[in-house]
Amino acid sequence: MAGLAVNIDHIATLREARKAKYPDPIAAAVIAELAGADGIVCHLREDRRHVQDRDVRLLRKVIQSKLILEMAATSEMVGIALDVRPELVTLVPETREEVTTEGGMDLIVHNNIGETIGALQNNGIPVSIFIDPEPEQIKLAHQAGANMIEIHTGVFCEATGNAKRRQAFAKIVDAAKLAKKLKLGVNAGHGLCYQTIKAFTGLSEIDEFSIGHSIVSRAALVGMDRAVREMRDLINHL
Ligand code: PXP
Repeated sequence: MAGLAVNIDHIATLREARKAKYPDPIAAAVIAELAGADGIVCHLREDRRHVQDRDVRLLRKVIQSKLILEMAATSEMVGIALDVRPELVTLVPETREEVTTEGGMDLIVHNNIGETIGALQNNGIPVSIFIDPEPEQIKLAHQAGANMIEIHTGVFCEATGNAKRRQAFAKIVDAAKLAKKLKLGVNAGHGLCYQTIKAFTGLSEIDEFSIGHSIVSRAALVGMDRAVREMRDLINHL
């Protein structure tokens, strides 16, 4: 059965909208774990627009499952990761203007990513790279020494019309199968919601889904516990 890692960034977004003390992403993470999350994800961005350093450090102390730190491949972030020691680092591209991570990391451009991977792995931290479902990117992630990839599911989730959706999903399937052949772990995420997750029925190559916006949005209306349980239940039945 695939895992569910819950991204709590947007609890922090809500807090930062008022520069208030609440809602606290740590509280959300605890409730998510109690509701069945297999891990908690947060993205510490260079501009600290939502998650703060304090959140990452408290999450490390409080959560019982596993901490997945999304971060850009910068020396500042590597330093923080080595200090905090998450169970997994997911390397993501980051630009200041974007609303959220907009695409996978292009490993043709980031051709020295192996250095960052090595710096983390040499200190016992496994590394995943968030990439588009393209065979070349998967081979480059493998060559760079990544432990896992996270397949960017955003194009599929946003596709309109059956033909485009089918085409986008076929790329995800091929990517997951190729990655497994190369003995890479396979996570998937971005844009997944209570409808789009159903497409993954029978795709056993996915180890874990990383989901934030749809769960936090539902949580605002029905509560975090129910929002996580409902997603957990859908994943249990894939
Ligand atoms: N995976 C990665 C690498 C991401 O950057 C994000 C967004 O922070 C997610 C998964 C979760 O995406 P969403 O919030 O759309 O579920």
